[in-house]
Amino acid sequence: MTRTYAIIGDPIDHSLSPALHNASFAFLRLDCTYIAYRIPRGDLTAAIADLKKIGIAGFNVTIPHKVDMMRLLDEIDEECRKVGATNTVVNTDGKLKGYNTDVCGFLDPIRKRNIDCTGTDVLLVGAGGAARAIIAGFANEKVRKITIANRTQQRAEEMVRFAKQLGVESEYMDLAKAGDSASSFRFIVNATSVGLKGMGCPISTRNITRDSIVYDIVYMPVETQLIQQAKEQGATIIYGWEMLLAQAMRSFEIWIGKPAPYEAMKLTLLGRF
Ligand code: ATR
Repeated sequence: MTRTYAIIGDPIDHSLSPALHNASFAFLRLDCTYIAYRIPRGDLTAAIADLKKIGIAGFNVTIPHKVDMMRLLDEIDEECRKVGATNTVVNTDGKLKGYNTDVCGFLDPIRKRNIDCTGTDVLLVGAGGAARAIIAGFANEKVRKITIANRTQQRAEEMVRFAKQLGVESEYMDLAKAGDSASSFRFIVNATSVGLKGMGCPISTRNITRDSIVYDIVYMPVETQLIQQAKEQGATIIYGWEMLLAQAMRSFEIWIGKPAPYEAMKLTLLGRF
């Protein structure tokens, strides 16, 4: 019988996950399919019951359900518990197990470049769901300190507490001042949605240097304003699409138990931009 996978969230119509996973299934000739299912906030419990009824094999979870989904899981993977949010679920006979592949997905492009994070200082811009996975990832890699800048101070303070819980030094920084002190950080990570669809840059970039590593998790467009400007300053660039691809590959491997076809996924992804 065909096994069906899904991505749940709202909005969902521009998600690239169905294209990515369906390309992998076709490439490996697996009798599997992947659909997008829009679930508005508040409808999650009923919708999950429906997914169980149709015997969904597994699903990805995106905004706004990554945290809420946790209470509907029967089992929680270690990494997922640490982050407090899930993006990948496996259904085994009605029992749901949650994983979080954003942590691995975030770190993968850093590891591919052989960059050692140990003892480094990080400027993290943003304090939403994505920021939590990034903090957990950097905590695994033993960074020295994560400075968090965000439009809403209260949300940043929450992330500061979260980082400290994971044993990493952390403090809040005013978003308006973050650009000025850019040169004192090895990593500058944008985890806000600023830059999406070509709109804006989250911080001023004039103090970014050749020693900076600028990682923008926004992947649409591929070259955000932040990336363009950081490139002009000579920084090392890590693209949002690399994280998107790595987290999708990890989800695929959890579900299918085989290596995900990197080239097929990458071509599908970049062909869509
Ligand atoms: P995600 O799960 O993708 O992280 P989110 O939880 O909605 O999404 O978080 C979005 C992030 O982008 C937040 O850090 C948000 O800042 P606030 O905490 O102040 O809301 C940030 N963000 C969104 N639009 C922004 C804007 N126009 N200027 C600055 N920050 C913005």
